[in-house]
Amino acid sequence: MCGIVGYLGKNEKKEILLDGLQELEYRGYDSAGIAIIEDKKLKNFKAVGRLQNLREKTKDYLSNGFGVSIGHTRWATHGKPTELNAHPHMGAYSFVVHNGIIENYQALKEELQEDGVQFLSQTDTETIVHLFEKNYNSNSNAWQSFQETIAKLEGAYATLLITEADEESIYFAKNGSPMLIGFNGDDIYFASSDTPIIGKATEVYYLEDGEFGFAKNGKVTLFDSNGEKSFSTQALATNKAMAQKDGFRFFMEKEIYEQSQVMNDTMMGRLLEDRVDFEELDEKLFENIDNIKICACGTSYHSALTGSYLLERVAKIPCQVEIASEFRYKKPLLNERTLFITISQSGETADTLEALKMAKRAGLKSLSICNVDNSSIVRESNGAILTRAGIEKGVASTKAFATQTMVLWMLTLYVAQIKKTISQEQLNAELEAMRHTPKALLVTDKLHSKMTRLSKRYLHGHGFFFIGRDLFFPLALEGALKLKEISYLHAEGYPAGEMKHGPIALADSELFTIALMPKTLHYDKIKSNVEELCARDATVLAISPEPFELADDFVQTIYYTHPMLEFFEMMVITQLLALEISVRLGNDVDMPKNLAKSVTVE
Ligand code: M6R
Repeated sequence: MCGIVGYLGKNEKKEILLDGLQELEYRGYDSAGIAIIEDKKLKNFKAVGRLQNLREKTKDYLSNGFGVSIGHTRWATHGKPTELNAHPHMGAYSFVVHNGIIENYQALKEELQEDGVQFLSQTDTETIVHLFEKNYNSNSNAWQSFQETIAKLEGAYATLLITEADEESIYFAKNGSPMLIGFNGDDIYFASSDTPIIGKATEVYYLEDGEFGFAKNGKVTLFDSNGEKSFSTQALATNKAMAQKDGFRFFMEKEIYEQSQVMNDTMMGRLLEDRVDFEELDEKLFENIDNIKICACGTSYHSALTGSYLLERVAKIPCQVEIASEFRYKKPLLNERTLFITISQSGETADTLEALKMAKRAGLKSLSICNVDNSSIVRESNGAILTRAGIEKGVASTKAFATQTMVLWMLTLYVAQIKKTISQEQLNAELEAMRHTPKALLVTDKLHSKMTRLSKRYLHGHGFFFIGRDLFFPLALEGALKLKEISYLHAEGYPAGEMKHGPIALADSELFTIALMPKTLHYDKIKSNVEELCARDATVLAISPEPFELADDFVQTIYYTHPMLEFFEMMVITQLLALEISVRLGNDVDMPKNLAKSVTVE
């Protein structure tokens, strides 16, 4: 995800910016850039790909005197990862970097274009710099122009602006996206999180939403809607590893909490008012296709299974799902009317990649759903949809699964639109539910502490069954996998209706059953299945919006207007349960034994 750094002072600026951006690399990005004003001259460099490319481009440049500078790593949302779309964005004499989304950018852009402004990029960010310069061209007051600019922005932003019109200042504003200011004597630093300035600044101020101001002469002047305000700084942390986790105990925990936010990125520019659009896809990919096959491993296989229910039910297209390592050696019968979809967080999983190559050799068209642009699987496919989850560090996948599932839900609607298997009324209802997903993914203190309390009752026993029906069967598989991976306890995911065909023989008070009981999908059916287990004295933790008296433990959910909202809310609950059990058992949550994040061997 995007990262911001800024520096005002006498030290060499290029290295400060590049080192700062390097500290933000772990968030993921696909281009980077810096802009510096020194001796009243603006300098700007941008490069696509790794930060090393930007280092190469700037290797002969040094900026040693006093000056102001800003830098950015970009994770493409509006527009492709190109140099033109990389930040800082420029006007005639100013540069801007921005994290977040300017929701009214289209309207602002059209107004500016009517005034003759030429846009170079496809980004929402570029509107900020042009709006600023339009204001300055009429009032010749840079600070006033910046305030007028900020007043017009709607949406989320953390932004820094430098301009030759006031070459000793950095203007800043924050609303909805994080930004902080670091201090060390007369040196002033800006960043979107702690890590770039640890070891450089000694004191820090974390900006609040609605705050803005400017840094000049080693001093920061701060405002909010009530006017100028005083602020006090605090000592800056010195431990970088801790800061990268944003104060969470584990990357996995941080990633569970991030899901609500990254889902906005996954939907951005794709979830439109009355339809779903994938700018990166050519509808021709779906021409002469009457069948879909999805191939993946592990967690990605579970999102694939979820997608197959949605694709068949809503897009009315037959869809089979295969585990890649099985598919490779079964001598599958393939035909060219099948679209071959691979799903992979890393884009490097050997089995999935080989399965894709096999399908291509058989003449099938291919589409990948992946979190890493330019990965082997993306490069090998005819089309790709990026999940935009940001880098996932925890070996146990959480936000990658959530975003894959969201992409599959959106893809379902996209195919349904093409095949005309959905009415506009139904489509609107789906889109409305989608917009609520970030809320269903929010982790509240109340929920997290409930899961922490409950976890102490589930540290022993002779195994776990996660059970669910329909869409909630893949979620049961995923819940069980999460628990297995980080707790080393045995857990199985099972279709609830299958328990009576064998596994129910295991039922006793030491068999823990996590029952996913959504209200919107076959509630009565799953209820009967769970009652059968209760009657045999199994210990049941029920997750449902409907109170269920027979359960030993119960977590009540809130969002039950659409099965997928129930799905996402229950997903978070199972992730927290696995996390807290693992913590109590003293395991390494982020790096479970025997597992690797990217499985590039067969
Ligand atoms: O990178 P991929 O999505 O292709 O990886 C597939 C599996 O190796 C992966 O999902 C694995 O199961 C995770 N550890 C699950 O948490």
